[in-house]
Amino acid sequence: MEKVKWGILGAAKIAQFRIVPALHRSTYCELVAVASRNQQKADEFAKNNNIPVAYGSYEQLLDDPLIQAVYIPLPNHLHVEWIEKAVKKGKHVLCEKPLALSVSDVERLIALRDSTGLLIGEAYAMLHQPRLHQLKRLFTTGELGKLDSAHGCFYLYNRDKNNVRNKYEKGGGSLWDIGVYPIATGRWMFGEEPVEVSCTMEIDEQFNVDYHVTGWLRFPSGSHMSFVCGMRYPDHTHMSFYTENHRLEVPSTYFSDNETQNVIQTYKGLTPAKTYEFEVVDQYSFECDNFVLAMQKKQPFQGSLEHTLAQTKVLLALFESAKLKKVVEL
Ligand SMILES: NC(=O)c1ccc[n+]([C@@H]2O[C@H](COP(=O)([O-])OP(=O)(O)OC[C@H]3O[C@@H](n4cnc5c(N)ncnc54)[C@H](OP(=O)(O)O)[C@@H]3O)[C@@H](O)[C@H]2O)c1
Repeated sequence: MEKVKWGILGAAKIAQFRIVPALHRSTYCELVAVASRNQQKADEFAKNNNIPVAYGSYEQLLDDPLIQAVYIPLPNHLHVEWIEKAVKKGKHVLCEKPLALSVSDVERLIALRDSTGLLIGEAYAMLHQPRLHQLKRLFTTGELGKLDSAHGCFYLYNRDKNNVRNKYEKGGGSLWDIGVYPIATGRWMFGEEPVEVSCTMEIDEQFNVDYHVTGWLRFPSGSHMSFVCGMRYPDHTHMSFYTENHRLEVPSTYFSDNETQNVIQTYKGLTPAKTYEFEVVDQYSFECDNFVLAMQKKQPFQGSLEHTLAQTKVLLALFESAKLKKVVEL
């Protein structure tokens, strides 16, 4: 299969540290260009990251007829605008999470995707992580019992006033940035969508963004999950899953590059049972290759817009619950 030619909109940190290495390492992708709003920044980013072409505007990259797929790592409030511009120029688009901040935007993008036949996907790299696929298989086969309950956590420390996460008008805050991970992972593992949610959040007075959030989701089968996320705490990501007889611990859940934590540890009662061990892999590279397979071979892509639509509904219901201080039905 011929490699798909990719361009990146914005010299973003996530692009530099995760997606550029992933594209270079991938099987089906070739990274050919980066664009920045500033030509000098684009030139430096291209030179430092071994990218052949640097554009001084996003429009110029979208006008390049050689580029087939575009990766968008812009601040959250710009995702939808640039997805639409890229698709209208005939590009397939992989966009960072959260892909959109409203249900109507996702619905409009679904219509655009369907009318153009171009793929629009959301970049949740953990959806491409082999360990989490194994976890899903354990729940699908039911060999450890029915999944009844889960708890997820994503904490980090970020009080940088210049960071997009601390800017309300740019779609900042901990729920949009990191709370999305336990929620998306839980929805996947339970295999159903919540019918009720509840949430409480603390708002940072200086930045006007949520810096600490606790929430729960109730699924139609009667299963529940809870989560916490926050931007004022030492880094920690973890999920625990419970069946009637087993507890499954998944450390560093949303990442696959930690040598010591790339395991699923099961417990029966308080006693450790089986440990599933996994190789360190680049889940971002799998994500880019899976996107190409979806583009070219029409294989399903796990970060589909239908996934985004359901996820966005849950997130907005959580915000509503925090605002109204009551349980919200979906
Ligand atoms: N999947 C993951 O694991 C993961 C991890 C981290 C972040 N993310 C997501 O990736 C996105 C970017 O996060 P990041 O931490 O990489 O952000 P970042 O370093 O601040 O990069 C965002 C880029 O957007 C461009 N930009 C265009 N208009 C802008 C504006 N008005 N204000 C600020 N920047 C603007 C800038 O590029 P130019 O100046 O070059 O134009 C900037 O470098 C977010 O959606 C975030 O949720 C995903």
